[in-house]
Amino acid sequence: MKGLLTAGGHGTRLRPITHTKNKHLIPIANQPMLTYAINYMKNANILDIGIVINKNDKEIENIFGTGKKYGVNLTYITQNSPLGLAHVIKISEDFIGKDNFLFYLGDNILVGGVKKFLDEFDKLKSNCHLVLSKVKDPERFGVAEIKNNKIISISEKPKNPKSDYAITGIYLYDSSIFEAVNNIKPSKRGELEISDAHQYLLDNNKKITFSEITGWWKDTGKPSDLIEANKLVLKNILKKNKPFDYNDIKLKNKINGQIICGANSAINNSIINGPVIIGDNVVIENSIIGPNVSLSNNCKVINSTIENSIIMSNTSFLNIKQTIKNSLLGHNISINQKTDFLNEINLIIGDQGKIELT
Ligand code: G1P
Repeated sequence: MKGLLTAGGHGTRLRPITHTKNKHLIPIANQPMLTYAINYMKNANILDIGIVINKNDKEIENIFGTGKKYGVNLTYITQNSPLGLAHVIKISEDFIGKDNFLFYLGDNILVGGVKKFLDEFDKLKSNCHLVLSKVKDPERFGVAEIKNNKIISISEKPKNPKSDYAITGIYLYDSSIFEAVNNIKPSKRGELEISDAHQYLLDNNKKITFSEITGWWKDTGKPSDLIEANKLVLKNILKKNKPFDYNDIKLKNKINGQIICGANSAINNSIINGPVIIGDNVVIENSIIGPNVSLSNNCKVINSTIENSIIMSNTSFLNIKQTIKNSLLGHNISINQKTDFLNEINLIIGDQGKIELT
């Protein structure tokens, strides 16, 4: 079994953050998003993984390298233009060869990993096994129509969805998928759609089975999805961590709930409401942090309050009198408030932003 992971695309709904950063590298609980997919695969014993990246993208390879650090073997595959998810599979045929594989969209985050879906696929001996999740807005996704516990049709982002079952970005295939991706035609938007490849399999009497995710799953397309994914991942990693016991920090602050704090970070006269993750070399003074905050390395928070937010490295807050909430901030941003006039601040700021509230 091999793994195929997408890490391309343009992340348009996450601009300006994605002007300077591949969306798959946005940190969730201080880890680049793609790390979760790689770990899910590793934990399911999928060690040979192809990562599909945009032309000229060196960022992903610079971070993940050969994969040795993660206990996997990574091969980078370039998609020269964004021609769709079925096209991603098409250009990966040499890498996959005759193996079965897990195709995983790198911006999907879920709780509990992927091992159980692999086991189902093996047990049912299907040509394609899809992972479904019941959603409120199926028109945003590929949608499966189900009758008598069988998938009978699949459509991509239908205006009138035939069910509430979204097809998540977790797919298991044998080599029949290559026949499908090599035979379908581009859609109206000019892409080879993954849903058309699935419909091709159905039309050609291939066996498509499915599992349903009953827990949490998110396709992280928008800032609010990332903030929610961060909250959930924090809750789960901190649950597994042993209770917070940094006595010196406890003495100088009020700590509620679970937190993780990196090396050389100084916290003074502050309230930390877990779950919160704090990176290395972070300074927090006279501030209130959390719940659901990820603060990356070298951030500085002085006289400020932050809740429910993702803050990337080297970003600083000085004297922000109102709560910063539901915010996604890039690297090297400085926010400094000089007067007192706002109630709440919601921010999406790309790298190098400089804001003075005067
Ligand atoms: C893609 C697929 C869609 C699937 C979704 C899951 O959509 O085309 O069928 O339901 O991923 O994340 P996208 O998120 O690229 O719009």
